[in-house]
Amino acid sequence: MNYRHRYHAGGFHDVLKHTVLALLIEALKRKDTPFCALDTHAGIGLYDLRDEAAEKTGEAADGVLRLAGQVLPFELGPYWAAVKSVNQRVKAGALRWYPGSPRLLRALMREGDRLLLAELHPEDAATLRAEFAGEPGVTVREMDGYTALKALLPPEERRGVVLIDPPFEAKDEFVQLQRGLADAWRRWPTGVYAIWYPIKGCAPVDAFHAFLKQHAPAETFAAELRIHDGYSEAHLNGCGMAVVNPPWKVDEQVANVLPFLHRTLARSGGGSELNWLVREKDRA
Ligand SMILES: C[S@@+](CC[C@H](N)C(=O)[O-])C[C@H]1O[C@@H](n2cnc3c(N)ncnc32)[C@H](O)[C@@H]1O
Repeated sequence: MNYRHRYHAGGFHDVLKHTVLALLIEALKRKDTPFCALDTHAGIGLYDLRDEAAEKTGEAADGVLRLAGQVLPFELGPYWAAVKSVNQRVKAGALRWYPGSPRLLRALMREGDRLLLAELHPEDAATLRAEFAGEPGVTVREMDGYTALKALLPPEERRGVVLIDPPFEAKDEFVQLQRGLADAWRRWPTGVYAIWYPIKGCAPVDAFHAFLKQHAPAETFAAELRIHDGYSEAHLNGCGMAVVNPPWKVDEQVANVLPFLHRTLARSGGGSELNWLVREKDRA
């Protein structure tokens, strides 16, 4: 396990992932009944964009920092509220801290909602545990994210979202992911699932879409953002968020915000799109 998210926090991939996640949480809050969020690959929760690791890659400079000081579309409101929650100032040049998915979730979830965080790297799990020490409603487990899907689903609330955000270091990560999803769906077919995936080569993405089309237990869309033209195995040219069982209207909100994210974050060409992979009417 070499991957450390400290090098990548706040990059364009995080902006897409966390924008979609924030919209999902807001949608779940439309009902008063409590819900649960499970983050299977949680990272350390909060990132200092001025630390050596972040400055070495400069990914945030081409990601979240491009948003600072801009007039943001309405749909970025929940995401930006989470960014603001960990910063005293968010103007260009002043934004320093970045909320990873656990901090973003905690910032947007309510008192009675429950947050489950799994992280396998022992050092990162310890940092995460320290980050949330004493915060009610948050459980941190040092464990494999795919095991967490088996051990922790379905949640007692029977409402909520699962974020699956693996590092894609392992060559067979898509295979592990698909196995994990199949397990999760057997246990809890009615949950909302948000799955981040990299766009490097074309074939693995096509195969993942085909898997979702065949096996996802509910309506599913894929929102994709590409910052360069074409495909390259060597670079992260783009990324996607697949959402299984999206709450009402979230597809429209994501579709509305994608062109802004592309305009703001693209490096050389690229594009953005939202496609439905599964529609109930097609399966009926
Ligand atoms: C992309 S980062 C997560 C970022 C985080 N979800 C966020 O949005 O802020 C992936 C994380 O998964 C952890 N990890 C790697 N393999 C894992 C596994 N099998 N189970 C759980 N966590 C794992 C890595 O240590 C890393 O912190």
